[in-house]
Amino acid sequence: MNTKKAVFFIAIFFYTSICIQAQERITIELNKGWKFSKGNTEKAFENDFNDSKWQTVTVPHDWAIYGPFDKEIDKQVTAIVQNGEKVATEKTGRTGALPYIGEAWYRNQFSVPNFDKNKKVILLFEGAMSEPKVFVNGKKVGEWNYGYNYFYFDITDYLAANGKNSLAVHLSNLGESSRWYPGAGLYRKVKLIVKNKESIDQWGTSITTPMITADMAKVNVKTKVTGENLKIKTIIKDANGQEVATNKTSTLFGTEFEQNIAVKNPQLWSPETPYLYTATSQIYVDNVLKDETITRFGIRSIKYEANKGFSLNGEVRKFKGVCLHHDLGPIGTAINKAALRRQLRILKDMGCNAIRSSHNMPSLEQLELCDEMGFMFLAESFDEWAKPKVKNGYHRFFQTDAEKDIVNLVQATRNHPCIVMWSSGNEVPDQHGAEGVKRAKWLQEIFHREDPSRPVTVGMDQVKATMESGFGAIMDIPGLNYRLPLYEEAFKKFPQGFILGSETASTVSSRGVYKFPVEKAVSKQYPDFQSSSYDLEYCSWSNVPDDDFVLQDDKPWVIGEFVWTGFDYLGEPTPYDEKWPSRSSYFGINDLAGLPKDRFYLYRSRWNTKANTLHILPHWNWEGREGEKTPVFVYTNYDSAELFVNGKSMGIQKKNNTTPQNRYRLMWMDVKYEPGTVKVVAFDKDGKAVAEEEIHTAGQPYQIKLEADRTNLEANSEDLSFITVSVVDKNGNLCPTATQQLHFKISGKGTYRAACNGDATSLEQFHLPTMKLFSGKLVALVQSTSEAGKIEFTVTGKGLKSGKIVLNSDKK
Ligand code: GAL
Repeated sequence: MNTKKAVFFIAIFFYTSICIQAQERITIELNKGWKFSKGNTEKAFENDFNDSKWQTVTVPHDWAIYGPFDKEIDKQVTAIVQNGEKVATEKTGRTGALPYIGEAWYRNQFSVPNFDKNKKVILLFEGAMSEPKVFVNGKKVGEWNYGYNYFYFDITDYLAANGKNSLAVHLSNLGESSRWYPGAGLYRKVKLIVKNKESIDQWGTSITTPMITADMAKVNVKTKVTGENLKIKTIIKDANGQEVATNKTSTLFGTEFEQNIAVKNPQLWSPETPYLYTATSQIYVDNVLKDETITRFGIRSIKYEANKGFSLNGEVRKFKGVCLHHDLGPIGTAINKAALRRQLRILKDMGCNAIRSSHNMPSLEQLELCDEMGFMFLAESFDEWAKPKVKNGYHRFFQTDAEKDIVNLVQATRNHPCIVMWSSGNEVPDQHGAEGVKRAKWLQEIFHREDPSRPVTVGMDQVKATMESGFGAIMDIPGLNYRLPLYEEAFKKFPQGFILGSETASTVSSRGVYKFPVEKAVSKQYPDFQSSSYDLEYCSWSNVPDDDFVLQDDKPWVIGEFVWTGFDYLGEPTPYDEKWPSRSSYFGINDLAGLPKDRFYLYRSRWNTKANTLHILPHWNWEGREGEKTPVFVYTNYDSAELFVNGKSMGIQKKNNTTPQNRYRLMWMDVKYEPGTVKVVAFDKDGKAVAEEEIHTAGQPYQIKLEADRTNLEANSEDLSFITVSVVDKNGNLCPTATQQLHFKISGKGTYRAACNGDATSLEQFHLPTMKLFSGKLVALVQSTSEAGKIEFTVTGKGLKSGKIVLNSDKK
């Protein structure tokens, strides 16, 4: 066995994932074999290395998601000023009522393949919640306060000569440090990068495409390096791996190479054609290869122009975007690519073309997927600057850390073509006052210095104040959160010549829940702590989707919107912030399980221009409402439709401009409930019947039905299948009010990971193999193991015919 093979073998033995980009550089993912202990101070284990009794965990890991939910966790007596509250009241569930507060240690052992004096070793954290302090072989190598950021340390000088090293990370989360569930622990990846001393610096590559024509694109590659007498060779390959251009140089500008490389007949990146190139960067000393990295990039141009708006590759378009918090529902914040990919697949089908990572740095996995699947990205940094929103928020670190946090955000992510805009803040209280204007300018200039190719926004809610102070005028992109009545005035007063709806809607609803009478309402509450899915309920600061649509459609200078939010998230259970057991949001277009609410189809009917949408609401199981007014809404891209109840016509409705609702929805307000069939027939512009859809009153719950989003998994211990579990009657109709307790069993090469029913008031722990249905449905997550083979998943429930599904798991 030669040495290189031996190195590979040892590495595989210790870690599951090892990625060798070239022999000169090895990236090792530290994911297995972590020891975890909660409730210990930084001092507790400084000199005590006996962790044999600690829990063994896999990283990414969220220590708080396993619960249990508890009303007392992070209970806050506070007035949420951003929501217009003046009096402090008790808020439960604001951060999800999950045990994220406290201190904890993570420990691991690692060895560095082929370690010698010519090597440099980088330890990279892609996020650690929060205030991580990192120790190698008992010595502190550094710390990083902000739990959302990526950071790294050069640990070369801390490594043991015998190659055996210990790594310890102390984390600490304070209560009242967040406005939503932040998660806890090493929730993103930890990596070791082993390279030569003569090498490309961490995040040292920057690729932009400053000039593009049909025949040629100029690809500008800047590469920061360390070492003497270096040369660089950059090879550009197309999406098929074919070499399309190369360039060599030995001219260093300080510590940076700069190359302009022509790519002929460039294929442009866009949401519809997410074409990706790679740049292989090779560093040589005396013709000996010392380092090699591969950077994926896209060729695309972006422009923001007065009165014209935003254009991508020369074509004006609007952002049909959603805001997302970072938790992934029942698996919490532990990053998982299959879960992220599923979210994006759902959003793609809705016609969504952009994501805003509210209100912090996105995961690298999410950016990779947005590059590949075609989503534009607004990458945000902070929810607080120097002035607090919550007692222990980021304001504690702002003065000392803001610059380095922005530097890391930009340097780690700038080569992702999906990113088309940065955001330096969300609704920061610093919008008021002259100091805030200075801060806004300071932060924007850091972004510009690090990345001159993209503009910067702030999500502004204090629009009047920002008009007066000049805050809004200095931003590259004035972003308005809500405040629709001020759009026109802001457009006139601000100099940019366009307005972005950086945050819109905040309509609240619970999947499959409908309330009567059907009427528009602000901050409406019901005894069951649910909100109506007629999509007419919103908050004092917000609005229903249709109001945004009017501005988006009628004002060419409005460059798009980012809806709050694409998916429900843990924490912030508005309008039930004071009502236990509400513990997760009602804002999502999709619920916490990722199941679409009715609103999904309202956005789809306007955003997805490739497919037709014809969706009827509410469900039609209203025992006890016979003869009572039960309005029927249809969300559709068609202009008009006729509704039938049990074959009787309820008349034709046509979209019209009398109200925003009449413009975007078809509504039959006077339908009286009778059990049976509701059918809608849609007409095209010429009045021709072109599509129909029907729903039925369901009979008794009879059988459990399982539908997997994917039946073929990768046997990598990470992949997930999301199985939608529903209860149907004898004829296969969904029983929309079913709430049975179900039980899960798994066998074969898979494990049960979690379940979620989308009920914001449920206190059932996600990881236990049982859950109640909510509005007839829930989603169960099955995870692959490292072994290939069949996975059998069975769901049972009292009085119900059980459901079974067989999945396949394969090695890639
Ligand atoms: C916004 C805020 C979001 C969320 C939302 C709820 O003002 O930026 O983080 O709190 O309100 O409507």
